[in-house]
Amino acid sequence: MGFQIQSYQQYLDDYKKSVTNPAEFWDEIAVHFKWRKHWDKTFEYDWSKPETKWFIGGQLNITENCLDRHLASKADQTAIIWEPNNPNEKSVRVTYKELHSKVCAFANVLKKNGIQKGDKVCIYMPMIVELAVAVLACARIGAVHSVVFAGFSSKALAARINDAGCKIVLTADGGYRGEKTTPLKNIVDEALKNCSTVNNVLVFKRTDQPINWNDNIDKWWHEEIAQIEDICEPVVLDSEDELFILYTSGSTGKPKGMVHTCGGYMVYTTYSFQNVFQYKEGDVYWCTADIGWITGHSYIIYGPLCLGATTVMFEGVPSYPDYGRFWEVCEKHKVNQFYTAPTAIRTLAKHPKDLVDKYDLSNLKVLGTVGEPINEEAWHWYDDNVGKNKCPIVDTWWQTETGGILISSLAGVTEGKPTFATLPMPGIQPALFDSEGRKIENQEAEGILAIQHPWPSIARTIYGDHERYKNVYFSAYPNHYFPGDGALRDAKGNYRITGRVDDVVIVSGHNLGTAPVENAIDEHKDVVECAVVGFPHDVKGNALYAFVITYDKVSKPEQLKNEILELVSKTVGPIAKPDKIQFVSGLPKTRSGKIMRRILRKIASKDTENLGDISTLLNPDVVTEIIDNSL
Ligand code: WTA
Repeated sequence: MGFQIQSYQQYLDDYKKSVTNPAEFWDEIAVHFKWRKHWDKTFEYDWSKPETKWFIGGQLNITENCLDRHLASKADQTAIIWEPNNPNEKSVRVTYKELHSKVCAFANVLKKNGIQKGDKVCIYMPMIVELAVAVLACARIGAVHSVVFAGFSSKALAARINDAGCKIVLTADGGYRGEKTTPLKNIVDEALKNCSTVNNVLVFKRTDQPINWNDNIDKWWHEEIAQIEDICEPVVLDSEDELFILYTSGSTGKPKGMVHTCGGYMVYTTYSFQNVFQYKEGDVYWCTADIGWITGHSYIIYGPLCLGATTVMFEGVPSYPDYGRFWEVCEKHKVNQFYTAPTAIRTLAKHPKDLVDKYDLSNLKVLGTVGEPINEEAWHWYDDNVGKNKCPIVDTWWQTETGGILISSLAGVTEGKPTFATLPMPGIQPALFDSEGRKIENQEAEGILAIQHPWPSIARTIYGDHERYKNVYFSAYPNHYFPGDGALRDAKGNYRITGRVDDVVIVSGHNLGTAPVENAIDEHKDVVECAVVGFPHDVKGNALYAFVITYDKVSKPEQLKNEILELVSKTVGPIAKPDKIQFVSGLPKTRSGKIMRRILRKIASKDTENLGDISTLLNPDVVTEIIDNSL
């Protein structure tokens, strides 16, 4: 669209304008979209409430922008290339015309099942085309989707269904990921034992495995879709109507349902997609994330489709059938922009180089990373072996809460720097604060990151808990959004994200709050109390280390460990299983009874030289015991 930044000078000019005259800057971008009614005011905010609104009074439907708008010029262009888990199965290309038809038909299915504007729809599906169709069908009729990653346990799923009050669950009989088949429908059944708002479950047949069936609520997708017409006028929504809820972990137990709205999210994801990846007509773009995460929402579905791009959706995992799969897919579909996570890069870097070398990667123009800081070694491996030193790497920093990329280089337009996310996008005004809460004015500095002006795709609230939204994101520094990350800034204004400053640990690119894992472990009948912290891990970036106090002396440690792992897996999900479990007689606590996770983090990281002053602890002796027995 007409807002592609073409040169470094243009970036500088646009950035300046976005700060000095944000309303005019965003107006000029937003006019490129299809609105049913032009907005009355570009934005309005009051972060003491906190409240943020964009394109106020504007009306639109995002699917009209993702689909209908492209039909005149690119009806037969591929919108989605779907690559199955098993390379022997055929990949599928879905054109814009076909996608439009599928979305309209499924939107009618939703309507037939009583779903209307504002209703919440839970989507618990594998990475198949129908997942994208389901998401867009919700948006078509103004229903609010809540996609739950299909690797979460039934308990985690139930908690999310209940929090949002979902009326319907969209799922599949099972899902393939590598060698594994996940019994999705049975997990949904299990979850629904504890949910009262769900009237129906629509089941897509993917694996054809045996499942339970409840005639009262279960319906087959293929039967529902069979006789339905594929015409469905988009419901016209306000800019600030809810588009979706997506849960992310917080530092306390309950997941946070981040609420994103229609207008600003559409404008920002599309704008950032085009500029960060420098997507050009005809390119094939592949983001390897799952649609269960924000990266999949913004940069597999909405951003690329709004721009009219060709986006790849991959059902499988990087290790199946072998560690060359990503590169095989890049060759097969002639991928031009490739976007993945540091944890995947580190895993692949541990395997023989010829698994990369044997594929033709000459179509690649841009490489991207997201989800956690990328270490220097992984960055160079990616640059040398995948990009062959000719593809700019965009290290994109952002969050579920931010909706889109906030800090990143623009491929080939602004300069990259290994391990640095580099410069803020136009419209984004980062700041650094010191530990006393003072803004750091020096250019070269390290501190805590904050953002000082709203951008269009910021999440508007935590569903059902605006107070928590205020406390978590807007109470650290007045009039600033607080993302919870530390950062350093170099002399040229480049940012390097150094990691979380709260109790969220990023394991293999997945955000895990330690609190839910602790809660799961605490459920074991032999456990008195526990503390879970992150520690650096070669491949996963971070892994979890659990310190566990038991009622009695542990007689069968291996058995107890397995039971604990099983509990975590069932309660939170397999991705949250701690790598290390140490049984301890006590945990270091302050006199007010707070567990000193800082000390445990140091022990877990084998960095026990500088524990700081521990004499003020309630129980300093326990620290020595924990260090002596640490794993
Ligand atoms: C981390 C993922 C360093 C960060 C889009 C952030 C990163 C959290 C980067 C959000 C990056 C994301 N460099 N750290 N390029 N990208 N992070 O909500 O700690 O799953 O706060 O969103 O991931 O994770 P989330």
